[in-house]
Amino acid sequence: MNSQATQARINELSASLKEHNYRYYTLSNPIISDYEFDQLLKELEQLEANFPEFAWADSPTRVVGGDITKQFEQVTHKYPMLSLGNTYSEQELRDFDERVKKVAVEKLEYVCELKFDGLAISITYENGKLLRAVTRGDGSKGDDVTANVKTIRSIPHVLKGNYPSLFEIRGEIFMHRKTFERLNQNLRMTLIELGVDEDKIIERLYKNPRNFASGSLKMQDSSEVAKRALDAFLYFVYADQSVAKSHAESLALASSWGFHVNQNFAVCSNIDEVWAFIQKMDKERHQLSFDIDGIVIKVNDYALQQELGFTAKIPRWAIAYKYKTESVLTYLETVSYQVGRTGAITPVANLKPVSLGGTTVKRASLYNADEMERLDLHTHDWVYVEKGGEIIPKVTGVELSKRDLFASKIIYPTHCPECNTQLQRKEGEAVHYCTNDSHCPPQLIGRLEHFVSRRAMNIEGLGSETVSGLFKAGLVKSYADFYQLKFEQLDGLEFETTEDVDGKSKKRSIKEKTANNIIAGIEASKNMPFERLLFALGIRMVGETVAKKIARQFGNIDNLMKASKEEIAEMYEIGEKIAEQVILFFADEENRNNVAQLKTFGLQLEVVEQVGLERSNILDGKKFLVSGAFSISRDELKAIIERNGGKIVGSISKSLDYLIAGEKMGPEKLKKATDLQIKIISEQDLMALLN
Ligand code: IVH
Repeated sequence: MNSQATQARINELSASLKEHNYRYYTLSNPIISDYEFDQLLKELEQLEANFPEFAWADSPTRVVGGDITKQFEQVTHKYPMLSLGNTYSEQELRDFDERVKKVAVEKLEYVCELKFDGLAISITYENGKLLRAVTRGDGSKGDDVTANVKTIRSIPHVLKGNYPSLFEIRGEIFMHRKTFERLNQNLRMTLIELGVDEDKIIERLYKNPRNFASGSLKMQDSSEVAKRALDAFLYFVYADQSVAKSHAESLALASSWGFHVNQNFAVCSNIDEVWAFIQKMDKERHQLSFDIDGIVIKVNDYALQQELGFTAKIPRWAIAYKYKTESVLTYLETVSYQVGRTGAITPVANLKPVSLGGTTVKRASLYNADEMERLDLHTHDWVYVEKGGEIIPKVTGVELSKRDLFASKIIYPTHCPECNTQLQRKEGEAVHYCTNDSHCPPQLIGRLEHFVSRRAMNIEGLGSETVSGLFKAGLVKSYADFYQLKFEQLDGLEFETTEDVDGKSKKRSIKEKTANNIIAGIEASKNMPFERLLFALGIRMVGETVAKKIARQFGNIDNLMKASKEEIAEMYEIGEKIAEQVILFFADEENRNNVAQLKTFGLQLEVVEQVGLERSNILDGKKFLVSGAFSISRDELKAIIERNGGKIVGSISKSLDYLIAGEKMGPEKLKKATDLQIKIISEQDLMALLN
């Protein structure tokens, strides 16, 4: 490469690495694997070593990634938070050992620890009390996330035992895999209920526990962080006076002060023992409840650590050995096309079963038509499959040397595999959709499932499999059909469960007791409040909160069906898009018939009157901001204001007329409102005004 080309490549690599750092640390949404990142970084390091004149001071090879976000106060680290040198090769690990041995005169020991795949945190304790927690940031200063870190149960607020009066402890915050799967699934359900399209859902879900943990720690609302059930392992103590003679000793001390120290570490007396630990953990890591991406090898003796010192960015006394994402080759049997609840089509590779990361994989996602095109997938190909942090394995490549001479290219279908409607693909989107939302079976079943779900009509005894069974038996096709079901139709009804991830289905039947429960559950659901029914109808973009607001604003279904798009859109936090979906829903004759039938079965299609719910124009033209906690929910309070002609706004400005102050309202808001001389009134004052 000539020097001009080298300079161009260095600039290109720097820009790309900076972008990937930003995606990883700030957005918690990387688009390349750690391995790919490390390869780019290595290439840049190599070029900079050969052409130092082109190496920039802010090159990603010198500056630590960076997770600084705007919303937190920045704190300078007393001891910089450095990164570690890393390698994927046994030889480079042995080279590291050789370098250490040149300095080590006495007995050399290494501590091998798990390399937790989370985000680094530095916590300061003063007189045994948690003072401050700061993220790594750019290595020299990070975000103060104390309030969020205090919600993590395994991080003690107060220490026990004999701790130094002032010290910092470093560690890793992470999320257990099970928690990740549960929370991501909840997030998925919420997005579905909000009517978000399936391909957008995939973008908004967290890719792996690390991203979820990092996204959580950056949240502004600590009570939300608390719900994320984060965990932490601590692995390094920094204090001005010496605390211990060796790393292993300091881990034991940290543990005695009450810190969560992972006990899966080994003290090794030579590099062969280190290598044996690395290999052992490579096999065992899939059984852990959390992700690790390698092993950190640290010189045990602190005096030797000091002697070895640091380079500009990394310690010379430690190195990370990173595991490559495991990839296996297997035979592609068929490709099937799943139709989701929103009509989005997902191509799935059905594979010859193969063992990967501790589980047997039989299916892998092919995401969309573009991805299949990129892979240039042919019939009976041999494909590489990876797990890489995500729950669903993915096909990453094709082994061309194994391709059959007569193999033909797999063509993406033009019609829905379930209902034969022509598939559509919106401009600029990767996903194909079946638009037959009112008659395509999986879409219909999805809507019925949503109707009976816990957060909607909450009909006991009706899980998704039973709903699908009732649909397939021809008993339920619309919401209203549930209310015509008879005990005799349910008792003993046999149906096949839907295919599980392995493509298997089983026979099930409804027992007498369940049949009774279902009938009772259906009857009880007739008393569900109007807002829940409105949510259950499955209008796109009408989630629980929106349904509540609309129900309270319009009072009953007839008012809502008569309302114009503008009337709906002008409600606080509703807007054009939601209004359009509501209008579209009621414009459909089938939906209107459905609602009419539900009415005849005695379902709640109006709000039961409550205090303040009568309409008036007492508050006409006045702007209100509601802040803090009240005797009723904030949404209810806002609805009362709106029903009486008031307007709700989201921030304090000169044009605000009233700030309704509840309990625990933030002091900044109070100050700002006072400074701008805005009337601050209580919930009771508002009610008095209305009376
Ligand atoms: S020691 C100066 N130990 O890996 C060395 N780091 O790639 C301080 N990490 O920034 C780090 N597990 O966020 C250390 N057992 C462990 C670790 C660990 C995960 C992270 C840490 C560090 C990064 C370096």
